[in-house]
Amino acid sequence: MWKANKVSLHFGLEKPVRILHLTDVHILLAYDHESDAHKSFTAKRAPLFEVSGRSPSELLEEAMDYGKEFDCTVVTGDVVDCVSEANYDEMRRIFSGRDFMFTLGSHEYIQMHRHEVRTHEHRDSKKEMWDELQSIFSADIGFDSRIVGGVNVITADNATFAWSEVQYKRFREEVAKGYPILIFTHTPLHMPKNAALDMYATADCHDHMVRYGFSEEEIQLSREVTDYLVNEPLVRGFFAGHCHLTMEKPYRGKPCYFTGALFQKELTEITID
Ligand SMILES: [Fe+2]
Repeated sequence: MWKANKVSLHFGLEKPVRILHLTDVHILLAYDHESDAHKSFTAKRAPLFEVSGRSPSELLEEAMDYGKEFDCTVVTGDVVDCVSEANYDEMRRIFSGRDFMFTLGSHEYIQMHRHEVRTHEHRDSKKEMWDELQSIFSADIGFDSRIVGGVNVITADNATFAWSEVQYKRFREEVAKGYPILIFTHTPLHMPKNAALDMYATADCHDHMVRYGFSEEEIQLSREVTDYLVNEPLVRGFFAGHCHLTMEKPYRGKPCYFTGALFQKELTEITID
């Protein structure tokens, strides 16, 4: 059923831990009463994500059920393709009553038919939709952590590429706990060469961040956080989505794993011992 990418990590744990990483589902629905622009956008774009004989919603429900066999399921965003009442209701329905960790993707908060997605409008739209998105999830969608069998699993929002001062403080607090750390984000730290050319990564997108309206100070802070994480020995690896590709490519010596899109039945099964 799944095209499972299997990752084995060795931290010297007493008992093995299994984590399921899901990302990039791109559910795209519209109610009749939603705007004509959203409905026509949905009609045109939804077929791009219905490529495996099952709808993105069905795949997410099945993958979340599969996640019950794991110690922790982590979902790193692009669950929906854009803001809409139907899309948000579908997230509420599927995630209701489930135990998992989550961070936002770059599509959860954008009104695709209305905004230019590669400018500050993307960032403004994130601020606008934040509270409503947060209401769907029980944990903090900006930063969350959980000790799973001796591994500190962290989710952190970097969907507009930047790290924040608050996240920097939270990362340092997590490091102080002393456990080996795995960091799950939507956007990878760096971009594999065979990814789409118009994609950007957290550690290497100065000009793109300027277009998003970040100041030089904010960009510098973000670089500093990346440097801190890359140089911290307790941070043992990064897992990200966004590229719709499964691969592994280290960044400055730190293991980085890319998980392919769930709408293509791809997921990553991580075993740590
Ligand atoms: Fe995506």
